[in-house]
Amino acid sequence: MPLTIRDLQNYKRQGRIITALTAWDALSGAWVDASGCDLALVGDSLAMVSLGHPTTLPVSLEAMVHHAQAVGRTIQRPLLVADLPFLSYQCGTERAVAAAGRFLKETPCQAVKLEGAEPETMAVINRLVRTGIPVMGHLGLTPQSVHCLGWGRQACSVSDQERLRQKALDLQQQGCFALVLEHVPAVLASGLRRELEIPVIGIGAGPDCDGQILVTADLLGLTPSQPPFVKPRLQAAEIFKRELQGWCHEQRHQGQTDPPPKEGNPPIPGC
Ligand code: KIV
Repeated sequence: MPLTIRDLQNYKRQGRIITALTAWDALSGAWVDASGCDLALVGDSLAMVSLGHPTTLPVSLEAMVHHAQAVGRTIQRPLLVADLPFLSYQCGTERAVAAAGRFLKETPCQAVKLEGAEPETMAVINRLVRTGIPVMGHLGLTPQSVHCLGWGRQACSVSDQERLRQKALDLQQQGCFALVLEHVPAVLASGLRRELEIPVIGIGAGPDCDGQILVTADLLGLTPSQPPFVKPRLQAAEIFKRELQGWCHEQRHQGQTDPPPKEGNPPIPGC
C-alpha cells in the first residue's frame, strides 16, 4: 500500500525526516520507487528536464496527466503527488477543481501541489480540500512566477520573511497537508518547521526541515544547468554520453574489421 498524507504527518510528529524525489516517466519512477523515498512528485520541472523547455510554464495539463500516468505505473510505496501546471488553477475555482480532479481520477496520484498563496489561490485550496483533494503548498522560489521573481533566493529581507511566514500559516489554515519551501534562507525554514504543524519540506532551504525534496535529474547530474543548492551525486549525463559514444565507436570498428559480404557472394541459407 502507498503511504498516505497521514503517514507523512505522523513522520513529522515522530521526528522522522521525509524524503521526496521527482519523477517524470516510468523509468525515473522506478528509480525513485527503488530509492525507498516517502513522496514522489510528478513535478512540472519535467517541462525542463524531460520536454526541453527553458521554464516550467509551457507544460500543459494534458501532458502532466500523461506523465503522471507513466510515473504511476512504476511507483508503489511513496505518496504520489502531481504539480498543477501554470494556468490550470489560476483561471477560476471551478476550472481548478476540474484540473486537480483529473489527477485523482485518471492517474494513481493521491494529491496535488500548487504554487503561491495569493487570495485567489487560497480560495482554490480551500475548495480543493473541501472536495477531498489533498493539497501541498509551495512557497519561496515558485518557478511559475519566474518572470516576476527570477530564479534567485527568495525572502532575503526581514520584511519578506515575515510576509512568507504569514503565507505559510495561511496555507496551513486552508488545509494544506504539507509545504514545500524552495530556495529561502535556512533560518526561515528552520523557524517555520517549528511553528507549523504540517511538514515543511525544503529544497535549497537548509538542513533543518521536516523533509527534503530534490529534482532527481539534478541529483543524478542529468541536467545541463544545476541549481546552486544541489551537488550532484554523480555525473550521469557525462557517463551516459561516454558509454553511448563508446558503443558507437565499437560498432564502427567491428564493422571495419568484418566487412559485409560482397555482391555476388552466394546467399546464406535462412538469411
Ligand atoms: O516541479 C518540481 O520539480 C518542483 C520541485 C522543485 C519541488 O516543484
